[in-house]
Amino acid sequence: PITLSQTSFIHRDKLTYPFEERGLQFGDGIYEVIRIYAGTSYLLTEHVDRLFRSAEAIRLNLPFSKQKVMNLLIELLSQNKMTSDGIIYLQATRGSAPRTHAFPGDVPANVYAYVQDMPRKTEQLTNGVSVITQRDTRWENCYIKSLNLLPNVLAKQAAQENGCYEALFQKDGIVTEASSSNVYLVKDGTIYTHPATRAILHGCVRMRVEEFASYLAIPFVEKAFATDDILDADELFLSSSTSEIMPVIMVDENQINDGKPGSITRQLQATYEQDAA
Ligand code: PDD
Repeated sequence: PITLSQTSFIHRDKLTYPFEERGLQFGDGIYEVIRIYAGTSYLLTEHVDRLFRSAEAIRLNLPFSKQKVMNLLIELLSQNKMTSDGIIYLQATRGSAPRTHAFPGDVPANVYAYVQDMPRKTEQLTNGVSVITQRDTRWENCYIKSLNLLPNVLAKQAAQENGCYEALFQKDGIVTEASSSNVYLVKDGTIYTHPATRAILHGCVRMRVEEFASYLAIPFVEKAFATDDILDADELFLSSSTSEIMPVIMVDENQINDGKPGSITRQLQATYEQDAA
């Protein structure tokens, strides 16, 4: 498999990193996960736009333009002769330098990207998944797609240990998002989700969900819902590049409605499939 390192393409076994690397030592970097369907990327422009927003937020200088990144990623797919469903993982860090907290001066960013096969989660998308709730202990800038994922890692691990697919983060009684996806509640025909503030990642699929809702004439309200509201929700679902539009049928062992994916979730899933095809 071919990896993109800075602007050149090399076999992934050839990519090495010094141990004094800002991403490794400080989590001083950002990343993107981009969906690939049948060898073609989905929402590429949106992901590259967000990469540049994250870079600006942490004052990281990316050594190329948005157009150049997109061209390199398309070339990466082609070099790998990618034809299956998968993802591109891309990360950019503040480079390699002797360890000291402040910025290391004139050091180039380290950027790499690779592709990985990832089939669609057909069974879960059809039947829905169970989730748990966890306290959102993250910092105030969750809109940055930062490499600092320890709270997300711990939350997802807790979910798995409880036989669940995801963990919903709650802060002061309200649901922000999930450990690696956005979350939505449907009540009386309206979709509710946390506003796109600094408290959540502004998901690329979330942006699409809002457009799909508008297309389907379903009211979409950016208003946070409480953990308590979940108990009498009509539907609940997640969105992300890897989970698509994922029905949630159980939260902390409480069944949502009749325990089956709801009709608005189903309409959004169908619209997603048309959009991504
Ligand atoms: N996660 N919220 C968080 C905390 C996320 O990590 C993600 C994505 C999302 C959804 O964003 P998008 O729709 O752009 O994929 C929301 C990726 C998939 C990951 O970390 O693997």
